[in-house]
Order: sequence, then C-alpha cells, then structure tokens
Amino acid sequence: MHHLLGLEHLTAADIEHILDVGRGFVGTGEKGSPKRDDLRGKLVANLFYEPSTRTKMSFGLAARRLGADTVEFSPSGSSTAKGESFIDTARNIEAMGVDVMVVRHQSSGAPLLLQRQLPNVHIVNAGDGAHEHPTQGLLDIFTIRERKGSIAGLTVALVGDIMHSRVARSNIHGLTKLGAKVIVCGPNTLVPREIEQFGVERSSTLDDILPRCDVINLLRVQFERQRSSFFPSVGEYARLFGMTGDRLKRAKSDVLILAPGPINRGLELTPDVADGPNSAILQQVNYGLAVRMAVLKLVCG
Ligand code: NCD
Repeated sequence: MHHLLGLEHLTAADIEHILDVGRGFVGTGEKGSPKRDDLRGKLVANLFYEPSTRTKMSFGLAARRLGADTVEFSPSGSSTAKGESFIDTARNIEAMGVDVMVVRHQSSGAPLLLQRQLPNVHIVNAGDGAHEHPTQGLLDIFTIRERKGSIAGLTVALVGDIMHSRVARSNIHGLTKLGAKVIVCGPNTLVPREIEQFGVERSSTLDDILPRCDVINLLRVQFERQRSSFFPSVGEYARLFGMTGDRLKRAKSDVLILAPGPINRGLELTPDVADGPNSAILQQVNYGLAVRMAVLKLVCG
C-alpha cells in the first residue's frame, strides 16, 4: 500500500490488516511507553485546504509518535493567496524532501491528482470534497470492532446528510466489505437517488429503523456544501432525524452511538446522547490516532 485514497478499492483483507496494525498502536505515546522510530528520517506534510481539528492534529501527532518530522500547510497566509496553483504548491513542498503528503481538499479527486503528479510521494486522503474520508471510515470501523467484537452481521445506520458526506461513502465501502448491513437514513433530499447500488438499504424514517440498529453513526449536516435548502428548518430536521434521549430508549440498550465530529449539539444529536454511556465519540478520536499511525507506517512500507 503506497497510497490511501479511499476504501472503495481496498479488499476486506486490506482493511482488516490496517485495523490489526492499528491495534498494536493503541496507547502508544501515553505516559511511560517507549518512543518509536518506525518513521525516523521521514518527512510528513499536512496539506489542509479545508478546516479541520481532529484529522489534522491526529495525523500530525501520529507522524511524530512514529518518529517522523512534520510540516504543516494551510492556504490562508500562504502563496495560495497570491494565486499559486494547487499542483505548484504541492511540487514546491515535495522539493523540501517530503515522503508523505496528507491532503484535505474541497474538490473530490484532489488526492488522486497529486498521486499522478507526484509519483515519488505517498499520498494519504484526509477528506476530498464529498468523495471519501478513508481514515475516518477506518477509525469508525475500528471503534465498532473494538466495542462489538466484529463487524459481520451488525446493522449499522448512517443518519443524516448522506449526499454531501465523504464519511458516509467511506463507511459504506468499508462496512459492506466487512459484512455489515448498512442502512442510510435521512431526508429524501439528502440521500442520493441510486444509493441502493452500493448494497445499502434506504430509509427516510429514523423511528422505523431504530430498534434494529447495533450502531448509529450520526453525520453532520454539511451546510457548507449545500447550495440550497434541503429541508424546511433545522427544528424540523432535529425532530425527524435528531438522536435524542427519548429515541435512545427505543433503540437496543447497547446501541453504539458514533459521530465523526464536529457535532451540532441539538441538531444531529442532543447533549445527553453525545455525552451519555452509549456514545463512543471521544473513543473514536483516541482510536483515530492509532489507525492513522498504522496508515502512515503502511504507506511508507
Ligand atoms: C468530517 C469531515 O471533515 O469530513 N470531520 C472529520 O474529519 N472528523 C465530518 C464533518 O466535517 O462533518
């Protein structure tokens, strides 16, 4: 594996291998654990053209915990403001001796473009447009596997803005390959018409599917990617698709609540659910570090 652009073209065995390597990294860097040098002498560049808290910090920390050096690029304050193109920027960063580029971009396909233009750099997709966010998919699956034991046979609902969510696509590819049943649920305007082609079930009523779910992954409404209004009001959305304490009572008692973050409290889920015993939201962030260490180590061979 020299690059990670998405989960679509990985096999179930590839995904399981990444998760297994990640398992070995859980707890790395915590007090008292020895310093690692897997990536000593390597340079990892973070190119983030869209805002990020978790993903950006997690990749930076993962690289440093493996002994790599890191450099950070964000377009504001850079020569992007002077009109420098994406590829020219990337080529100049490559010239500093970069081994791995972690890229987040508003355009779907930006990481693939980099892979074609920079054949000597390992490219890792940290989220491209509404296409894929493979490490988020991997860390979601990792969290489910740790908490539920395995993936095959589970029913996992992806709820919310499926249309604009790269997290939804990576979850669908990864979870279906590993044998989960995936239900996508949201307003009809936010669920792509041909979604069943991906081997998922479709629903527009959260209350109907609630009792069947082992895992519910609540996706953020991607207001920044919506060019028009896809539902009448945020109140209406919260009433029909928000995960509330009342809905939690009607779900399986051990239902696992996930969210990639950031969350809009009170919209996709209420604070009692986000911070309650069924929620694995902060655990996802913690496991994300181990999963990203695995990805960085594997792409560097
Ligand atoms: C996601 C993203 O950027 O796609 N966030 C993340 O990486 N944790 C989800 C989102 O922004 O809603």
